[in-house]
Amino acid sequence: MSLAVQLAGLRLKNPLIAASGTFGYGVEYEELLDLSRLGGLVSKGLYMEARDGNPTPRIAETPSGLLNAIGLQGIGIRAFVKEVLPRVARHDTVHLVNICGDTVEEYAEVARVCDGAPGIAGLEVNISCPNVKKGGMAFGGDPRMTHEVVAAVRKATDLPVIPKLSPNVTDITVLARAAEEAGADALSCINTLLGLAVDVETRRPKLAFGTGGLSGPAIRPVAVRMAWQVARTVKIPVIGVGGITSASDALEFMIAGCRAVQIGTANFVMPGIHESILADLSAWLERHGVDDIGDLVGTLEYPGSSSAGDPEVCR
Ligand SMILES: Cc1cc2nc3c(=O)[nH]c(=O)nc-3n(C[C@H](O)[C@H](O)[C@H](O)COP(=O)(O)O)c2cc1C
Repeated sequence: MSLAVQLAGLRLKNPLIAASGTFGYGVEYEELLDLSRLGGLVSKGLYMEARDGNPTPRIAETPSGLLNAIGLQGIGIRAFVKEVLPRVARHDTVHLVNICGDTVEEYAEVARVCDGAPGIAGLEVNISCPNVKKGGMAFGGDPRMTHEVVAAVRKATDLPVIPKLSPNVTDITVLARAAEEAGADALSCINTLLGLAVDVETRRPKLAFGTGGLSGPAIRPVAVRMAWQVARTVKIPVIGVGGITSASDALEFMIAGCRAVQIGTANFVMPGIHESILADLSAWLERHGVDDIGDLVGTLEYPGSSSAGDPEVCR
């Protein structure tokens, strides 16, 4: 039975990737977990320079979810490459760096620093963060800007380029197509959904920034729907993200068309949750007589597709 998947020229030993911003730079977990059990891990978002992020409070719990406005706190790409990468690269997993910028040129510059840095397997391009005043969602919400950023990053590096799409748009497939046309190798779907939580005593937002990004199980059906729409639209592979806490959640995304998945907020609830998900994925494959997890990708029997008329399926 094989759990290995291929995407963007990379081979992942299994489809589970730790999502950006929920797993630090990976090294924070190295004494707790065996990082080599992950198919991959994505670093926290990195700009050229270090950033403090937003003032606190910057996290609030919501029903089945988490609202955050961290604001892309980070040590800057050069410090990451010099001080963190040598440590994290010792672990046998696929290391992706989540890159950010205030301008198109900054994205390209961060990509150039990553290019050739030993241990970086690919770049996830964060054009979808809702918690910053410049860049982020402003790029990911506009197909022209999406194209421009992705094309600039594409030109700056030979590494696989994986734009991360925002759900805070009317039609995510338009953005997906723009990213594909600009040379993306795969797409991550989705970043957090823009939300607002209000403290009724103070009548102020619960987060100091005001709005925040919603993640966790609350967003999963939205994420699955968007990943499915994108997977039907583009030819490049899609990585599903949003609310995964179990093998069954991961399988939803894969059946809907995703080649791999990311686990985010669930890492806060249970660090090492990928271990139980892996065990349950293997058990599911065995129970269903599936030898290769890749065979499941895009097997959704959606009403209106060729098998939808089958009464067994409809029932
Ligand atoms: C606290 C926190 C920080 C995050 N930071 C980043 C980030 O730096 N870059 C990024 O692209 N996504 C970031 N995300 C979004 C996640 O990677 C993921 O797309 C989102 O949380 C949905 O997945 P989940 O429901 O499994 O958490 C962050 C999410 C959370 C909760």
